[in-house]
Amino acid sequence: MMENTVMLPSLREKEQEDRLAVLDADIMEKLKIFMMNSQPFQEMMMMYKCAIREVRTKAEVLNDEMSVRYHRNPISSISSRVKKPESIAQKLYKKGLPFTVEAIMSNLSDVAGVRIICEFVDDIYQIAAMLAMQDDLKLIKIKDYIKYPKPNGYRSYHMIVEIPVFFSKGKTPMRVEIQIRTMAMDFWASLDHELKYKKNIDSDDEEMIAAELLACADRIAETDTIMQQIRMKLDSLEASKRKQEEAVVVQDADE
Ligand code: GTP
Ligand code: MG
Repeated sequence: MMENTVMLPSLREKEQEDRLAVLDADIMEKLKIFMMNSQPFQEMMMMYKCAIREVRTKAEVLNDEMSVRYHRNPISSISSRVKKPESIAQKLYKKGLPFTVEAIMSNLSDVAGVRIICEFVDDIYQIAAMLAMQDDLKLIKIKDYIKYPKPNGYRSYHMIVEIPVFFSKGKTPMRVEIQIRTMAMDFWASLDHELKYKKNIDSDDEEMIAAELLACADRIAETDTIMQQIRMKLDSLEASKRKQEEAVVVQDADE
């Protein structure tokens, strides 16, 4: 084990399953001090930041190519984050793992996260397929919450990938969680996320809001489908107009 390791208190199995299990403030404070002074930990965070940059660049390149080729941007925005040390500690604690760089690197897949927001549902699958095709990117896991939404209505396309990052000591494969969703799905998810942090709500009210959110998620999905159909209609109208114009040009040339 590494010299500068903080051992988390061990958990009984039942406690591990308890999603509300939280580290107490005292341990959290110690972890923070440990992390601020730990060179291996700082290096690990730097490596995750670099992995994020690699994935962002890949997405940006695809968007640039498609904007030149098809005159539209399938990606409307990209955001990214490195998981907060507190959240990393919580996750390790819940999994009953020690707070070490080794435990983090080999057990957590979402320390580095990239979120790609697309205009249309088709764009999501297209971007996902184009990323998965790239031979330096290893696909670890896919969760398609668009085809199979979560019971609460959550929709998004998740990929866990491993990307090689070149450092002075050589190549290190780094895991990155990529979430791809439409603007509408993102709008819903941000409100849902907010609800999760509101702790002063009665459980009856929470249930009612959850039901409303679920209905909203379904309506949003319908809207996404209709928007996609409208775009396809516009594309095909534009294509037939272009064909007509080309035919006229050919006719003019013949005369
Ligand atoms: P985590 O332990 O939370 O990372 O979940 P997981 O390993 O089961 O992975 P999953 O793919 O289900 O979720 C990963 C991430 O997707 C979360 O950290 C959130 O960012 C997002 N997510 C998943 N479910 C929901 C949800 O119901 N609402 C919102 N707002 N976001 C969600
Ligand atoms: Mg997560």
